[in-house]
Amino acid sequence: MKTLQDLDLHNKTILVRVDYNVPISSGKITNDLRIRASLPTINYLLEKGAKQIYLISHLGRPEGKPVKEFSLAPAVKTLKKLLPNQTVDFLELPSNNNASKHSDARIVLLENLRFDPGEEDNSTEFAKKIVNMTNAELFVQDGFAVLHRTHASTEAIAKILPSCIGLLVENELKNLTKVIKNPNHPALLVIGGAKITDKSPLIAKLSSKFDHIVVGGKIAADGYESNDSKIYVAEDFDETSEGKKLDIGPVSTAKIAGLITDAKTILWNGLLGYAEDPTYATSSTIVAELIGEKTDATTIVCGGDTTGFVENLMEKHQNLKYSLISTGGGASLEFILGNKLPGLEAIKHTSL
Ligand code: 3PG
Repeated sequence: MKTLQDLDLHNKTILVRVDYNVPISSGKITNDLRIRASLPTINYLLEKGAKQIYLISHLGRPEGKPVKEFSLAPAVKTLKKLLPNQTVDFLELPSNNNASKHSDARIVLLENLRFDPGEEDNSTEFAKKIVNMTNAELFVQDGFAVLHRTHASTEAIAKILPSCIGLLVENELKNLTKVIKNPNHPALLVIGGAKITDKSPLIAKLSSKFDHIVVGGKIAADGYESNDSKIYVAEDFDETSEGKKLDIGPVSTAKIAGLITDAKTILWNGLLGYAEDPTYATSSTIVAELIGEKTDATTIVCGGDTTGFVENLMEKHQNLKYSLISTGGGASLEFILGNKLPGLEAIKHTSL
């Protein structure tokens, strides 16, 4: 896999695919993890003397036309805050005929790629328009969360420009590969969330490498059963007055806590209760804290709900640290399951 070290970046105009598909409420970004996660690559390119950096991303699913609520404009404000010494600008897509297509800023974010149908159609024409507009000479794929899509910004563009992966993608691949191929033991998989159909392939894939698997969340509340002796399913629950099981109980939480203490590898995917409501966030909070306080294990958190929860907790408790808070939702799962990611395949076949 080509990485940034394989390219001469000095004085080059560089196109970087980031994933700024961030939650926005009333025009404000409510979790900027994915924007902050793109900084190592941006800073690396700046240090290596890149002339100009064009950032491209999607946001939401506007279905090939401009939709105001899916504009990436709020991300520019965040970038300006995170990169106070840089000039940061925002430009419309080449398909917007009324807008300016030129900027001298060192960092330029383009409008949501999915405002043009060419993005999801994996259109070579659309990719060429982006390259012509920006005068880009190199392409860096750093949108880990979008690698499982076959789109113009994950595939077509890598066929036009010399391409490599960025530092975020490199870091995600390194950590996930280590944990799924060669975890330190004892290795613990913590599974929560609502849909067993999403999680059973993960359990099946990792059960031969992991020593313990614990299952909580709605899956356990709905009665998940397993004959596998290494799988522990939560056995008690915190219930509403109507008998709805909305969090796992103290006995199950204590059992999981013990396994966390001994583990040398922990992979956590899925909240253990209905944690949107603080009343039912107890087990997820305890587990997040215990994992984040560990200093003797590789600890990975993945899945959008779980990473968002952990990020919020980290704002309150700055001592919490994890080896990787994965920015990929579907992409991390596809990678863990061993499926090919079109965005990575495209980089493998690029010619430098
Ligand atoms: C994600 O949030 O998982 C990625 O940004 C991909 O978004 P998509 O599911 O709309 O393609």
